[in-house]
Order: sequence, then structure tokens, then C-alpha cells
Amino acid sequence: MSEQRPRVLSGVQPTGALHLGNWLGAIRNWVALQDSHDTFFCVVDLHAITVPHDPARLAEDTLTTAALYLACGIDPGRSTVFVQSHVAAHSELCWLLNCVTPLNWLERMIQFKEKARKQGADVSAGLLDYPVLMAADILLYDADRVPVGEDQKQHLELARDIAQQRINARFAPRGADGEPLALLKVPEPLILGEGARVMSLTDGRSKMSKSDPNEASRITLLDTPELIVRKIKRAKTDPVMGLELGNPERPEADNLLGLYALLSGLGRERAVQECAAMGWGAFKPLLAEVVVEALRPIQQRYAELRRDPATLNAVLEAGRERASAVAEGTLARVRQALGFLRAR
Ligand code: AMP
Ligand code: TRP
Repeated sequence: MSEQRPRVLSGVQPTGALHLGNWLGAIRNWVALQDSHDTFFCVVDLHAITVPHDPARLAEDTLTTAALYLACGIDPGRSTVFVQSHVAAHSELCWLLNCVTPLNWLERMIQFKEKARKQGADVSAGLLDYPVLMAADILLYDADRVPVGEDQKQHLELARDIAQQRINARFAPRGADGEPLALLKVPEPLILGEGARVMSLTDGRSKMSKSDPNEASRITLLDTPELIVRKIKRAKTDPVMGLELGNPERPEADNLLGLYALLSGLGRERAVQECAAMGWGAFKPLLAEVVVEALRPIQQRYAELRRDPATLNAVLEAGRERASAVAEGTLARVRQALGFLRAR
């Protein structure tokens, strides 16, 4: 049954706690896709080491991220949940793709340029190569759709170009009619509108990010209610009275009212009606309350999952097995198309 459903693959890096942007821009949409798609969700730990990382934290952060997937509503009965580094095919396909990907495609990537600028002198080859590993993640599973936030769109385009122009066009075996048979499935991005971009609490013009050194800029899914109240109280505002959406001069109002509309369940129109005449002082406690209430069930499920490591490990082991079976098949196809000698 699930064989005929379109396949979805996505992942988040296990770097620090997931925040509202990761949830609203990514994971919340994954949950909905489980009803209609064959879903694969991985914790992309190999991506997490493209910038300097702390080996004492990596395993723990990987478990935290996997537990948060489940706590947010990813159902291991319906989805394959796994850890990227547990399936060696990711690294191997990445290498094969590296050798056909033009260097200047990677040098153009906006995320690379931004991260490299922030990091200064010590930029790794892995950071440049990050999008090729991401392409391998996607292409290994013949994913039809890849749900990500808007910031990942360029990486998706790259994965499509590698699959189409660099692998299929050059290496796909020809059918009897001379037409190339598909070797890799060319994936479509799935960028879902609302919540696609949650902005920083301290600057409405930059996105909420795990890598912002200022923790007050983001609300993580595991922040306590007190911390959430405090962060929202201190969030940047403007001197204008009344909340509104869509005014480019007021990015903070747009971001916070947008969050309120989404998390209260009111929707944008009714949220605007309710808050149009409200000052920041009245609005912020309302927003804090809906954020706390929205995160409460996630935090409860998370705590239960972390109390039961055997269950979480069993989920990841079953995920590894299912993911490996699919990934090994694709990798074998590509190895053969590229002409490698088969091991006896
Ligand atoms: P990252 O935190 O970079 O590993 O991103 C994981 C997923 O969350 C990706 O699909 C991103 O597009 C999404 N994401 C990250 N930050 C935000 C944000 N501020 N707003 C919306 N989506 C985001
Ligand atoms: N680069 C993605 C991000 O930062 C994470 C990621 C890695 C990913 N591999 C992926 C997302 C494959 C979707 C599919 O958000």
C-alpha cells in the first residue's frame, strides 16, 4: 500500500535544541504528510560536523532531535525515522556525486557563503560539500518531495541539477528505444507557505536560527514556560501602537502576530481583528500563553520518550534497517551505472 504513495524525505541537524522555526517551518508539515506519503525522516548528524562541533554532545543531541521528531507527532509506525550516519550509503553516494558536481555550483550557494563569512579562516571542505551530502540524502530514497523551509530551496535545486544533468543525462542506461531510463528520481521541493519563515525575536529581519549566539533570539521546543514568557517579554518591538501583518516597515509585528495567528489557531484574519488596536504590552502575554500551550504537549511527550531509552533506540534501529534497504538499492544502481567493478 505504502509503495504507491509518493515518497518524502527530510531531515534536521542535531545541533542544539530545535526551535519554533524548525517546528513551524519543517516538522509540523512532516506530521501532516504522513497521511498521504511514504515518509522518511532522518537526523542529519553528518551535516552537523560541517562546522566545528563538540564530540561530547553529538550523540546526545542526536537522541534529543530524534525524540523531538516523535514528540512533535512523527509516528514511527508510519514513518521511517533514522540517523543519517547509521546508513553508510549517505557518505558513499555523496562521494560519487562529488566527482560529478562542478565546484562553482557549490561556491554559489548562499548558505555556504553566509556560514563561511561567519566562520572566518577555518572553513572546512565539508561545509562547501554540505549540499552534495544533502543531495545524496534525498536521491538515495528516490524522494518525490522534500519538505523544507524556504532557506533550503537553493540546495534542493542543486540536488535536482545533480540528479538530472550530472547523473541521469550522463550515466543512465538506455532502453531499447535509446531513451535514457531513470537512474535517479528528480525530487520536487515542497515549501509550505505559513510558518515557512519564523524570524528572530531580537531582529525581525533575520531568521530564527540555531546558530545565533544570542539565545534570546529563539524559543526552543524545550524552553520552560518561564523562559518563554521572559524571552517574549524582551523581544524586540517598535514604537507603533497596534499589531499588523505584512507591513515591511514592521517586521517584528509581522513575525510575532504571524506566530500568534498560527499557534492560537485563529488564523491570520481573525488574529489581525483581535490585535489591530492592541499595544505591545497587552499583546505579548497573549502570545506567550499560546506559545507555552502549543509546546506543552510536545514537552510532555518528549519527557516520556527520554525516560524510556530502549523504545527510542528500537525506533532508530528499525528505521536504520528500513532506510538501509532502500538506500543500498539506489547506491548499487549508481555504482553499476558509473562502471565500478562488483565485489565478489
Ligand atoms: P536547520 O535548523 O538549519 O537544521 O533547519 C532544519 C529545518 O528547519 C529546515 O527545513 C529549515 O528550512 C527549517 N528552518 C530552520 N530555521 C527556520 C526558520 N527560522 N523558519 C522556518 N523554518 C526554518
Ligand atoms: N540542510 C537541511 C537544513 O539545514 C538539512 C538537511 C540535510 C535536509 N539533508 C536533508 C533537509 C535532506 C531535507 C532533505 O535544513
